[in-house]
Amino acid sequence: MRGGADSLHGLLLRWLLPPLLALLILASWASYFGAHVAVTRAFDRSLLDPVQALSQHIVFERGHPVLMLSQDTLRPLFTHVYDTAYFQISDEHGHQFAGDLTLPVPPKISNKPQFYDATYDNQAVRVVAMRVDLDSDPAVEEVPHFVIVQIAQTLIRRDRNLYELMALMVAPALVIAIAAGLLVSVGVTKGLKPLHALQQEIASRSHLDLRPVPVDHAPLEVRPVVVSLNALLGELAAVMEGQQRFLANAAHQLRTPLAGLHTQVELLLREQMPEHTAQVLNTLLDATRRATHLANQLLTLARAEPTTEHLVNRQAVDLSVMVEAGMVAWLARARSKHIDLGFELLPAVCAGDALLLPELFANLIDNALRYTPDGGVITVRTYAAGGVAMLEVEDNGMGIPEAQREKVLERFYRVAGSPGNGCGLGLSIVAEIVRQHQASLQILTPVHGAGTLMRVSFSVCT
Ligand SMILES: Nc1ncnc2c1ncn2[C@@H]1O[C@H](COP(=O)(O)OP(=O)(O)O)[C@@H](O)[C@H]1O
Ligand SMILES: [Mg+2]
Repeated sequence: MRGGADSLHGLLLRWLLPPLLALLILASWASYFGAHVAVTRAFDRSLLDPVQALSQHIVFERGHPVLMLSQDTLRPLFTHVYDTAYFQISDEHGHQFAGDLTLPVPPKISNKPQFYDATYDNQAVRVVAMRVDLDSDPAVEEVPHFVIVQIAQTLIRRDRNLYELMALMVAPALVIAIAAGLLVSVGVTKGLKPLHALQQEIASRSHLDLRPVPVDHAPLEVRPVVVSLNALLGELAAVMEGQQRFLANAAHQLRTPLAGLHTQVELLLREQMPEHTAQVLNTLLDATRRATHLANQLLTLARAEPTTEHLVNRQAVDLSVMVEAGMVAWLARARSKHIDLGFELLPAVCAGDALLLPELFANLIDNALRYTPDGGVITVRTYAAGGVAMLEVEDNGMGIPEAQREKVLERFYRVAGSPGNGCGLGLSIVAEIVRQHQASLQILTPVHGAGTLMRVSFSVCT
């Protein structure tokens, strides 16, 4: 799981930032060497003047080299603000005859100034050494023919300049590296945004929404994933559709033999027969009714669930008109149970499916009639409030315990001890149709005490 849990963001940063840092270090290193060469060259050049000055004032007198410069002339040549400089002049045998420096003479020496690093008096110094030929007679072997001039200078100002130069070169690189890091971070976040949008698009879907994810919203690199996902969604939708079609077909096929059975039992019951047989036949008739109801409910449920082909077919539906259309049948059922069924119908137009909404209402009123004892009161209301179309079915029956108000929406769930031959699918159908319409269903207790108030609010009004 370790590798898989890495965020793309972290991964990209981890791949980009260390190389960036390594490059920075490498660049600093290169800058250091560049700066060192430049500073060394510049400062070495500044040592040429004193070496020339010294060499021009060495004369050959009475068999000896002599430096013809006074201390006063010499001092400014060797005095600097930060650094100290020393010099020495030795003859070809290594005998020093002028200066305050004691450094070994380099083994090979030419008439060109020669620079090298050394340590003098526990300090790092830069030394320039040069051979100066004397105008002694070359034929005479006993006298010196050349001298060696050496000047050593401490490195304080060189180092200072080197650091200054380094700072000037590395600081912009550092700024660039930090800016690059930030840009990479921002860029990666921005770059991953389409992926995030894609994730949200998929996350916001219901488990029944198996439509393909729009491919053109996805970043190019992720498109193959989306295409595969869509293929999978397509297969899943096909399977679900097949199952749904099977369920609808099976339920539909069941209805015909059940209707036949029902008719036959009813016909049989008209015959003369012993009391006991009539009782058995009545039980059979009841079971047939229940099976027919179950087949009908299954069919409705299968039809209510969306498939990729069939999504809710929205049109403007006035809930009051829809309720009124079936009113007569419901009034007849209420009368047989001595229930006072009242309608308070105000226009309430919503965008809905003209076939599914009557199913929703039928299940609500059926439950109210079923679970309200004889002599009860049921009120059906439709109205519009604040852009929301409302459908309410209120009864003063047995009510639904608060703890079970979620549960009764599940398939085949019935409150224990519920009377009648229901199969527990009615409220699942209601919930499904509500979900399809992005409406909301509330199971409430009426203001006047006992009973049930079913309220469906359709927020999408036309
Ligand atoms: N108006 C109501 N009053 C009391 N109980 C109800 C009402 N409507 C539904 N119920 C309870 O919710 C359960 C589930 O309802 P439903 O899904 O329609 O299944 P069925 O009516 O087939 O039992 C019912 O068994 C009943 O206990
Ligand atoms: Mg029911």
